[in-house]
Amino acid sequence: MPNSIIFKEKIKSFNKEITVSGDKSISIRWVLFSSLASGISKAENLLMSEDVLAAIKTIKKLGIKVKLDKKICKVYGKGINGYQFKKNLTLNAENSGTLGRLILGFLIDTKYPIKLIGDKSLSKRDFKRITDPLSKFGANFNLKNKKNLPLIVNGNTNLKSFKYLEKKGSAQCKSAVIFGGMKSDGTTIIKAKKSRNHTELLCKYLKLPVSVVSNKNYDLIKIKKVKKIKPFNYKIPSDISSSAFFIALTSLSENSKIVVKNVNINPSRIGIITILKKMGVKIIFKNKKIYKGEQNADIEVTSPKILKSINCPAKLNSGAIDEFLLIFLIAAKAKGVSYFKDLAELDQKESPRLQWGSKILTKMGIKVITTKNSIKIFGNPNLNINKKIVIKDYLKDHRVFMTSIIASLTFGGTWEIHDKDSIKTSFPKFLNIINDLKNGN
Ligand code: S3P
Repeated sequence: MPNSIIFKEKIKSFNKEITVSGDKSISIRWVLFSSLASGISKAENLLMSEDVLAAIKTIKKLGIKVKLDKKICKVYGKGINGYQFKKNLTLNAENSGTLGRLILGFLIDTKYPIKLIGDKSLSKRDFKRITDPLSKFGANFNLKNKKNLPLIVNGNTNLKSFKYLEKKGSAQCKSAVIFGGMKSDGTTIIKAKKSRNHTELLCKYLKLPVSVVSNKNYDLIKIKKVKKIKPFNYKIPSDISSSAFFIALTSLSENSKIVVKNVNINPSRIGIITILKKMGVKIIFKNKKIYKGEQNADIEVTSPKILKSINCPAKLNSGAIDEFLLIFLIAAKAKGVSYFKDLAELDQKESPRLQWGSKILTKMGIKVITTKNSIKIFGNPNLNINKKIVIKDYLKDHRVFMTSIIASLTFGGTWEIHDKDSIKTSFPKFLNIINDLKNGN
């Protein structure tokens, strides 16, 4: 089983400072924005993972030169209308929902039809949520089964703005429409349920004609046609979603402490911090800085004496959307019954994650009651696993793999975890950091 791994030892107490890889959402957005800038943009600490490399391959196929060395990535943008390519172009978003969905916003004015494909996991995911709003600009899409990849984009050079109500709290839907609005006449207006706002912050930093008015639950975003994007350099901060595995590891360990250096703590991304603090974990932000409109800080986590259960308010879901597998694991060790609701979006990820969260916990011997959009977890602070657990046959989903590793290190048992290669999509050095912590390096 070359692509699986066996873990059978609990981790000993640790007290460490670590650095995780660059933020995936910001890395992909930087690649896409810089591909339409007029001139050369440079990024440091760009996440070198399959999802980001797929974004780089995509802009290269669209005629944009990219130079990549170990430390710096340079993109030679040719302007807002600078994509050049031959007929019959096929783009491959591989495993990346963010790439596959966001790039469509930039392709709605394509002169020749473009085909978009993805891997097995991405081909099962919903693209209608993106093509429905983008069609309103005047582009036309043909999708397999009317909702999946492969799809073909038939562009329109006479795009018109429209008003869009984004109700799912999906940053991918919102961002694709912002991109489409940047290419369309008139003013596009989006009323969007709160979700991560890296696209809006980049627009603000680049002084693009995009304005945001925030209300309690919704943001009102107005977008006008963009004439020019200036090239821009960016030092990508570390990813909170990658840090989350170590935050969870520390929360589930005894007498341990970790500091994760220079992490993006955008308020729309730190749902896991708010939830874990409510559950009794001590988490402190240190060395807070503002960088190009984004907030970054070191995150210090101390293992708690006792974990409390939570009735999680649904308003925290969007800010923790990629972290729920880990949060469920922590609820499994908490005293009492935890409840998480309105989570239908979790089954729209690389694999159906509400189902996988429930499966992993059940295999561990934790009682759960799961519905289509909620889960009740009956925590057991004394759980000590003594059996073999096999995690396999999930769609290529990095977060299922990494969450299983954290479970094995903290609850015990022998874990055979398949599809190790899935971590290459978001966090290739994950196992190196885990092994350093295990070996006390
Ligand atoms: C992302 C948005 C989220 C998130 C994904 C990255 C982004 O997806 O789950 O990992 O970078 O915009 P949705 O917009 O579908 O919630």
